Amino acid sequence: MMNQRLSELNRNERPVFHLTPERGWMNDPNGFSRYDGKYHLFYQAYQDSVQWGPTRWAHVVSEDLISWERLPDALVPDQDYDIGGCFSGTALTCEDGRHMLMYTGFRPDPEDTQGRGLQTQCIAFGDGRTYEKYDGNPVITGAMLPDGGDPREFRDPKIWREADGTFRAVMANYNRIHGAQILLFQSPDGLKWEFMNVLADGAGKPGWMWECPDFFSLDGKQVLLAGTMGDVDSICRIGTYDSEQGIFHEHSWQSTEQGFDFYAGQTVQTPDGRRVLIGWMQNPQTAEHREIDLPINGQMSIPRELQILDGKLLQKPVTELNGYRTDEVTCRNVKLDTDEEVRLDGIAGRTVDMEIRVEPADRYELFQVRFAKDAEHYTEFTYEPELSVATLDRSHAGPGKTKLTKAQTAVRDRSGRLDIRILLDRLSAEVFINDGEQVMSAVIYTDRHAEDITFYVKGTAVMNIAKYRIKENK
Ligand code: FRU
Repeated sequence: MMNQRLSELNRNERPVFHLTPERGWMNDPNGFSRYDGKYHLFYQAYQDSVQWGPTRWAHVVSEDLISWERLPDALVPDQDYDIGGCFSGTALTCEDGRHMLMYTGFRPDPEDTQGRGLQTQCIAFGDGRTYEKYDGNPVITGAMLPDGGDPREFRDPKIWREADGTFRAVMANYNRIHGAQILLFQSPDGLKWEFMNVLADGAGKPGWMWECPDFFSLDGKQVLLAGTMGDVDSICRIGTYDSEQGIFHEHSWQSTEQGFDFYAGQTVQTPDGRRVLIGWMQNPQTAEHREIDLPINGQMSIPRELQILDGKLLQKPVTELNGYRTDEVTCRNVKLDTDEEVRLDGIAGRTVDMEIRVEPADRYELFQVRFAKDAEHYTEFTYEPELSVATLDRSHAGPGKTKLTKAQTAVRDRSGRLDIRILLDRLSAEVFINDGEQVMSAVIYTDRHAEDITFYVKGTAVMNIAKYRIKENK
């Protein structure tokens, strides 16, 4: 019965350029990697409900990070050590050509009143389509944790190989003494592991537990990403990595996301050297909140190209999205000074990629764009140049309302000039500010026919717009 209902979401209700589950629940991206000439992405899936349940690794592949083809599920919870779920993890290519997955096996403990259990790290090998769990699983257990490490909060390995061919992995752990920590393990072969070091801890930063770490080099620096539990943030720490000693020297940290919905991000390196991040476009605190009748729950963010400039992380929609742009509409030097909400010819839609530049004509106090708008509903992005603050407000977005309705971020002062790129899909809006210095993502459940877009300026400003429809197939 449930399954029948869950399979009903038809194509014209689905997001067009964001990956969604076929039916049921989706959370974290997993095993984001290049293998056999394609991008492979797995994700946490529970197909029998729109709420979380014992997760499997659903599997999709893509040539361009936008269009995904579904493959059979790669891992399902069927062993004693992972019967409560094949939790998040990552992938790499072995020397012998096999695709290797490292994930967390979850075994519930019926005595634990908080629904927790044992979390151990496990391995599977495959050919890009079919995967088999290693029979020596689990390869890392709670017994290998440093002092104070809680074996019930120990998960999400990110695996890689060092230049000398040895294996390393970082994973999330809760330490009873100092809270969140990211642990570094090492192995000669990916199967026999030992604890190496506490790579980072959460002291002075948001979140009592950090999940889903990613750890990679970018533009001469080393980046550590994590999702912070108990807080809405995804954190990015930038520093350097002493691989011999297994030490991360942090120089700075920032949020990866300034909106509502981005968590558990994972990266892949493209053949032309770009580092691309994808996240679960959801906030774990509101993910299970449902007042809507959709047979799916969950979607991925647009993949974002990363760059470090002046010690800060920049994020832009992956270049491949440009190949899906069509029906260009440009509006040049539009002067706004009427103190009214303005509609512009041809500027509307709900599968949209729109670039806007706003500059003061004389001076303005406030710039606003409303989208996913109909007679009753809209989502609103506001910029106040004198405070240099941007706000994303979805309190009028209609169904599926949660307590998280307003997000705000400081924006670099550019004397009133603002560049934004807004991606709208049927269930989301993502706003990239000033070439990706900030990103604000929001899941919205506003009826997909709410296609109006309006502009409002208090003061006088000039706008330049390039707007495209995003089509389903290239
Ligand atoms: C993050 C998370 C991970 C875990 C997975 C289980 O959303 O809690 O830490 O591996 O989800 O589905």
